[in-house]
Amino acid sequence: MAAESKSRAGEVRLWRNARLATMAESSPGSGVVEHGAIAVRNGRIVYAGPEADMPAALSKGAEAIDCEGRWITPGLIDCHTHLVHAGNRANEFEMRLAGASYEEVAKAGGGIVSSVKALRAASEDELVGQSLPRLDALLAEGVTTVEIKSGYGLDLENEKKSLRAARRLGGERPVTVRTTFLGAHALPPEAKGDKDAFIDLVAKQILPAVAAEGLADAVDGFCEGIAFWPEQIARVFDAAKAAGLPVKLHADQLSNLHGAELAARYGALSADHLEYTDEAGAAAMAKAGTLATILPGAYYFIRETKKPPIALFRQHGVRMAVATDNNPGTSPLTSLLLTMNMAATLFGLTVDECIAGVTREAARALGLLGQTGTLEAGKSADLAIWNVERPAELVYRMGFNPLHARIWRGQ
Ligand code: NIG
Ligand code: FE
Repeated sequence: MAAESKSRAGEVRLWRNARLATMAESSPGSGVVEHGAIAVRNGRIVYAGPEADMPAALSKGAEAIDCEGRWITPGLIDCHTHLVHAGNRANEFEMRLAGASYEEVAKAGGGIVSSVKALRAASEDELVGQSLPRLDALLAEGVTTVEIKSGYGLDLENEKKSLRAARRLGGERPVTVRTTFLGAHALPPEAKGDKDAFIDLVAKQILPAVAAEGLADAVDGFCEGIAFWPEQIARVFDAAKAAGLPVKLHADQLSNLHGAELAARYGALSADHLEYTDEAGAAAMAKAGTLATILPGAYYFIRETKKPPIALFRQHGVRMAVATDNNPGTSPLTSLLLTMNMAATLFGLTVDECIAGVTREAARALGLLGQTGTLEAGKSADLAIWNVERPAELVYRMGFNPLHARIWRGQ
């Protein structure tokens, strides 16, 4: 799994002469430390803070790396992707440019179902091979953790193939992969229009089997007129609960079916998209501690005009994560830096909200905040080191990658 170890067990490695955006919750804003250092032992952070305050015992005999004043943030986290897929849907992009809507394309037999055909035809090796360049694009910008959903298999064998391919990506590259079972994503052709029967299959057979093999860390669904109704998603969530898996939801993306409230009722880690969420939805999410995962790539790509209610999320204290939603239909986006720029430009997120959204809050949305997402002692040494003068540059630029180095688990 882990990359070849360069530092020996027990040895301390030191990144010094750095500026830190720790993103620690206890500090205001981005938790900035101007003259900072990070000490790492056995892949974990043992100290992150002012260099002057670092215990002398840590620096004695340690291998020190001079960061020459560069900024260090937590390694970036993409907490919502459909990165494992086969082929692409550039043809549908052309159809939409000629005037068709995303829903019309889906109803005409395109959409998710065309990616289902492609994924079913691909071998596990081919899926890994096709997905690696997308993963590499994310890693090149400092991503150290990525969530990957199934949902283009839609039968037991193909859902398992897709989740196994996702897990394998984590062995092919130094990155943490979290997998999500998205069986209730779309209706496969063999279901012949019977959504209830398919939901039964997902809840009673596919989900329990996937869970029993330990292939999924969470369960997701697509709650929408072109996908599944809230009562149907609730049955999948009941099955997830029975299997001991946390849930999350594609909610209120194209219409308001009160998916945000449904997610909150099940104590979901996050509700995602949320363009059509209303105040009751935001309030319910706040009460349940369900995060809002903002996906500006999909909003942009399908030329949606309704924006997620960011002001309501702030007002009610709903925490916000930001992710690419990398997928072939609505967000063929493999840049978390550009995603931050979109979240700021399209939705008005602040720089601090954007950076927190791809670090601390993205970790929280995956249930991983105890392990990663901030620069704090005890966490995995997942770092991104940047050639920037100030963190705002990470959000400000478009199509420019200022990454100097990416450290995953101390390497
Ligand atoms: O996050 N909304 C549902 N799922 C994806 C789209 C998947 C597809 O079109 O292939 C999304 O937007
Ligand atoms: Fe998605």
